[in-house]
Amino acid sequence: MSDLPAIARTSCEGRTAWLLRTRRAAMLLSLREDGALILDHWGAGGASERGDDYLPRPPRNRPSHRAFLDGVPLAFPVHGDPSFKEPCLAVMFADGTRTVRLALRDDEIVERDGHPTLTLTFEDPVQQLVVSLRFEVFVEHDVVRRSVRLENAGAAPVRVERVLSGAIGLPPDRYEAWTLHGQWGAEYHLTSRPLAPGKFVTESRRGFTSQEANPWFAISPAGESTEEHGRVWFGALAWSGNWTIVCEVERNDALNVVVGVNPFDFDWHLAPGESFETPALVCGFSDEGLGGAARLLHRFEVDAVLPARHRETLRPVLYNSWEATHFDVRVLPQVELARRAAAMGVELFVIDDGWFGARDSDTAGLGDWVVNPRKFPNGLGELIDAVNGLGMQFGIWVEPEMVNPDSDLYRAHPDWIFHFPNREPTFVRNQLVLNFAREDVRANILEQLRRLLREHRIDFVKWDHNRPYTEAGWPSAALERQREVWVRHVWGVYDVIGKLRREFPDLLIESCAGGGGRADLGILALTDQIWTSDNTEAADRLLIQYGYSHAYAARTMVNWVTDVPNQQTGREAPLGFRFDVAMQGVLGIGGNILEWSADDLELARLNVAAYKRIRPIVQQGEQFWLADPGREDPCAVQYVSPDRRSTVVMAYQVRGRVGRGARRARLRGLDPARRYRRVDTTTSPAPDTTAVVAPGTAPVESTGAVLMAAGLPLFAEQPPDDRHTGDWLSDIQLWESPDP
Ligand code: GLA
Repeated sequence: MSDLPAIARTSCEGRTAWLLRTRRAAMLLSLREDGALILDHWGAGGASERGDDYLPRPPRNRPSHRAFLDGVPLAFPVHGDPSFKEPCLAVMFADGTRTVRLALRDDEIVERDGHPTLTLTFEDPVQQLVVSLRFEVFVEHDVVRRSVRLENAGAAPVRVERVLSGAIGLPPDRYEAWTLHGQWGAEYHLTSRPLAPGKFVTESRRGFTSQEANPWFAISPAGESTEEHGRVWFGALAWSGNWTIVCEVERNDALNVVVGVNPFDFDWHLAPGESFETPALVCGFSDEGLGGAARLLHRFEVDAVLPARHRETLRPVLYNSWEATHFDVRVLPQVELARRAAAMGVELFVIDDGWFGARDSDTAGLGDWVVNPRKFPNGLGELIDAVNGLGMQFGIWVEPEMVNPDSDLYRAHPDWIFHFPNREPTFVRNQLVLNFAREDVRANILEQLRRLLREHRIDFVKWDHNRPYTEAGWPSAALERQREVWVRHVWGVYDVIGKLRREFPDLLIESCAGGGGRADLGILALTDQIWTSDNTEAADRLLIQYGYSHAYAARTMVNWVTDVPNQQTGREAPLGFRFDVAMQGVLGIGGNILEWSADDLELARLNVAAYKRIRPIVQQGEQFWLADPGREDPCAVQYVSPDRRSTVVMAYQVRGRVGRGARRARLRGLDPARRYRRVDTTTSPAPDTTAVVAPGTAPVESTGAVLMAAGLPLFAEQPPDDRHTGDWLSDIQLWESPDP
């Protein structure tokens, strides 16, 4: 970017305007005479700070509809504008008025935590409702973080029926939306659909982020965007509760996208003097397709979202004993598992569900975060000492928002759950949800977890959450505040995790929710990594990881190698293939390694060593999907180190077919002028040496330019005989540049 300011006051067509500029994008906002805030342009930036240079011409409707703002790209439509589009704000004032009229009170441009920030403060002059729209510009990341603050400056309460984080109005065109969908065991399927007149809504009403949909979206002009080319507008909401994204094709083919806390069953009592702040909407623009959008978001997550303590540290290779022992967590078998894990090169040993309370199955124990004395007669310290003695860190599983009726906590406080007095609660996995909107609930759980962490050397916590919310009542609150529970509960969860992080700054936390039900920029501000899915089957997993990786960085994506036949699908991928798939993010092992053969254990050891060799490039590099597993077999993904000296290519073929020739994958992101050499990950000892494939033979090498133009052959080898077509092939190639 040139040295023009990131935010400039300007004008367009005589209107007051603000131009927000990042490295490669620009957002032009202007104020109409009637007070409406228009998003005149958002997209590729030009090197100009004159609003008029963007030739803004907010579309106008035909004369009979000129009074209306439908089809006009508003940055924050409200119920009260002369418009029928999906609004961001709807309130009812004490006198029954249900329209809001906003007039700009002031604009402010300041640095906030090092980021140029524009705050536009509007006020309803009659009702004294103050609405501040904040735009924080992350110049280097090409993203803008938006949020909204409401303040009741009047003398009577205001009932807020919806307040979303922002709207994105895009000019008339034919658009396509990309979103993530699924269910338990099939999270993060990347889905695209043409946006036709009407609305497409993706949302969660389950109380948490959900496996069914994820608060991330990308929009591209229909047919234009591919993985690496074309314009993409994208956004992610930093919220782990109910959320909504509405894509509305309005009149004249204009697009209105609104994003925020789901208005479903939402109602906020804003008393005089009180304020409400929405979660942030992070939005960006890339002209390098979905892959370019993902790389921008990944960088933003790493630099500006993830907890600072572990942002840059490499995530440890972990072993989790859940699938090996389930609820039967006892010292000796766990120590046996730990010995084998340590011999493989595992760095973090995690015990999962079953170590606490009266937890022998999913019918009891949740809520009692005390070590089970029958399973650990000498305390948990005995196992922790053994694990530490083997050179590994120790981690543990908790599910703090949940309770079983068969628990001491529930027996003492049956009213602490979400409930309505005259309704039977719906049980899921025999558990109910604790209401974290309540101060006493938060204090109790926080204290239990604190004690656990103070009394034991615990390096890692897997924080689980295994059911959606039903009967989400809060009967002890004032009636007009009871629906606030959806939001206050999430704030309560954030509060408890935040306090634990402050007290135990070195703790590494993994967010899990019945598999991958809680990944979003809200929880990622408090946790370091995400359990992607309970489905660990390698072929299914390729699709899950592909989708996940379009929104969230590789260093957050945890993948385990588990046993065959797979618990979810019954399929049997070879061990090497399972490892190669799990290496895409943070490697974990979750099988019953007591039953693995000596050959399997040796293969695992070699794979863990190879992973450690490529881990910095995978976890800290940039990601490029070379062939999409949803459409292509073989598929491939590539990671490039920040200095562009090293790259890893991972290729997979699930099912071979007779007569299909070897595909090639053209690499991306390399330095065209450098030479790159293929490095054997199993023999090269140190990260900065460049051992060639076989000693004594000529190195396999090429230039960055050729690797990006001609590419690499994927699985050039022919199958061994005519009856084989090459199922379950995988290959991980490391290339490094010997050039200085
Ligand atoms: C959830 C998690 C699993 C495991 C179980 C334990 O399903 O996703 O990984 O922790 O709970 O009950």
